Amino acid sequence: MTLNHHNRAVFAFPDSQAGAKALAKVLNVPLGIIDVHTFPDGETMPQLPFKAGDAILYRPLHHPNSKIFEVVQVLSALHDTGALKISFVCPYLPYMRQDKIFHEGQPLSQAVFARVISPWVHILIAVEPHLHRSHSMKSVFPDVTGTALSGGLALAEYYKTQGFDKNAIVLGPDEEAWHTAKPFAEALGLDWTVAEKKRHGDREVVVTLEDGQFKGRPVIIVDDVISSGMTIVKAAREARQAGANSVEAAGVHALFDKKAEAAFKDAGIKSVISCDGVPHPSNKAPLAPLIARALG
Ligand code: R5P
Repeated sequence: MTLNHHNRAVFAFPDSQAGAKALAKVLNVPLGIIDVHTFPDGETMPQLPFKAGDAILYRPLHHPNSKIFEVVQVLSALHDTGALKISFVCPYLPYMRQDKIFHEGQPLSQAVFARVISPWVHILIAVEPHLHRSHSMKSVFPDVTGTALSGGLALAEYYKTQGFDKNAIVLGPDEEAWHTAKPFAEALGLDWTVAEKKRHGDREVVVTLEDGQFKGRPVIIVDDVISSGMTIVKAAREARQAGANSVEAAGVHALFDKKAEAAFKDAGIKSVISCDGVPHPSNKAPLAPLIARALG
């Protein structure tokens, strides 16, 4: 079989077609869906639908383990079919929170992932990739041209289209959340602050607020990742306790399940929205325009 050739194209796996389709549309290039055959023994064989000189692979890597090897297989196939420029658009970069060996005997997972991906890509684009202890894409991926896009700005763009209360206060639910909360608040001209958070387990967090700023105001909790949802649940309860008259939340990456949704309701959280990098029912804020601008 001889593959057709395009100058520039977006490639995607079936699990992330919507985001890739939006990106291909903004870039005005063809979208190729990769067919993945799974053998009876669980091994996989991806098949490119066509080839491209300037190839853009789109796949967010939440629940990453099985996806990472498929991604490497495809990057290898793009290289072998003559792509001269390979961009990997990975809206959700995995293992970025394991940026430190917390206990002896654990891997430095962030660096392991970087070593797996880096040999195959020229350009890496991620959205809000949890660069906290590691301060830049360059420090994690020194051999790649990396760009970290602000999901906070994408969330703010969505809020602008919807309208919002100018008296609202933006709350980052932990010290690190300023990365997301600050650009969001500044883009909307809102006050912002961060809480203090102590994590005692996957689902056990204690959030403490500096009092005095919330009374009688709507609160918008803004974070990079919403996973178990406990961070925003605890932050919402504290904000209500401090006198907030309503609480809603916006997360860049939504990884939460139905159980978390029930907990949000229980905590009096009016609504939870997210960017569309990780496909999720809460997706509202499109990332394609931001990603397209970064790709040029
Ligand atoms: C933590 O470092 C992140 O910024 C999020 O606050 C955290 O991942 C949220 O997790 P969860 O929803 O499980 O509390």
